[in-house]
Amino acid sequence: MRFENPFQIFKNPFVIEDLLVFDNATLQRLLSSEGFHLTIEDVAHSLYGTSKPVIAHIACNLPLEQRAYFQSLLQHPLTETEVKAARQRILDNLFWELIYWKAPELYDELTDGEQLHPGIFQQLESDVRDKVVLDAAAGTGRVTFECLRHRAELIYAVDPAPGLLHLLSQKLASASDTNRVIIRRGCFEQLPLENDSVDISLSCSAFSSKAGRGGERGLAEFWRVTKVGGKIILIWPNPYDYDWLVKHGFRYVTFPLHQEAYVRFRSLESALRCLQLFYADNRAAAHYILERQQPEVPFSLLGFEQPHDYCWLTVKK
Ligand SMILES: C[S@@+](CC[C@H](N)C(=O)[O-])C[C@H]1O[C@@H](n2cnc3c(N)ncnc32)[C@H](O)[C@@H]1O
Repeated sequence: MRFENPFQIFKNPFVIEDLLVFDNATLQRLLSSEGFHLTIEDVAHSLYGTSKPVIAHIACNLPLEQRAYFQSLLQHPLTETEVKAARQRILDNLFWELIYWKAPELYDELTDGEQLHPGIFQQLESDVRDKVVLDAAAGTGRVTFECLRHRAELIYAVDPAPGLLHLLSQKLASASDTNRVIIRRGCFEQLPLENDSVDISLSCSAFSSKAGRGGERGLAEFWRVTKVGGKIILIWPNPYDYDWLVKHGFRYVTFPLHQEAYVRFRSLESALRCLQLFYADNRAAAHYILERQQPEVPFSLLGFEQPHDYCWLTVKK
């Protein structure tokens, strides 16, 4: 799973005013969930000297019981260094959410060349073919398009980030046979689907055991929307969730990586842009690309492996 990769360092281009990009529901989820590690102290301190609309947007989306304390924190005197440090922590913890909401085209550019191990969908072919499938946290459709290619009957592509879904709809508009995809805004914790409405629930590189990123509530939602006998499948699960997933009945499938796999960026410019932003100017990778004048680089040089695993369970009610 990408966002938990401890070796990945990014160059954070965001400023605290960018928090205005989130809608109320998302901000409430981010501010109240342990998964994002935002302390109320850091939230308040990061807002020193910022504009009233930003403070108001945060204040009205905090859990009720924290609001009075938040207001009192805003009155504490702080040094510039303390404010800067609090901002950095908030923006770093929200880096990926800010990318999804504020720079979705960069996320698409990053993942475009990051192919899943071919074994994954070869194996899932019979689960997907002629089935009604949910791609939860669909992003710009990496898994949605695999499901289309593998002849799913209908795919619900669900994601909370409007910009990512907009890109997905643009991509669908220029592809063929895409009336089998229905795009909906929504999150793991409240899937916008009826009970027992899909045969297979899938999610790739997004679900985690932590509240706000799925957790118990999200898993219960997968169970609710998936028909009896159907499957819940998490592609590229978070390695830190292994025990939690096994405890909840998931089984693992991993495909061997026989040879070096490559991330294939769209162009040399795109590769260098992605390296600069998402890999903190990874010099070795940039050198590799420039020396060969090809926009591709081994996964290993970027500090992670090609996504080559998934876990699954069968829904019994
Ligand atoms: C790393 S991206 C993966 C996107 C896509 N599945 C892929 O493989 O490229 C994580 C996705 O999770 C979505 N997301 C974040 N929090 C979520 C939540 N609570 N419920 C559903 N989706 C969420 C983000 O908007 C983003 O699209």
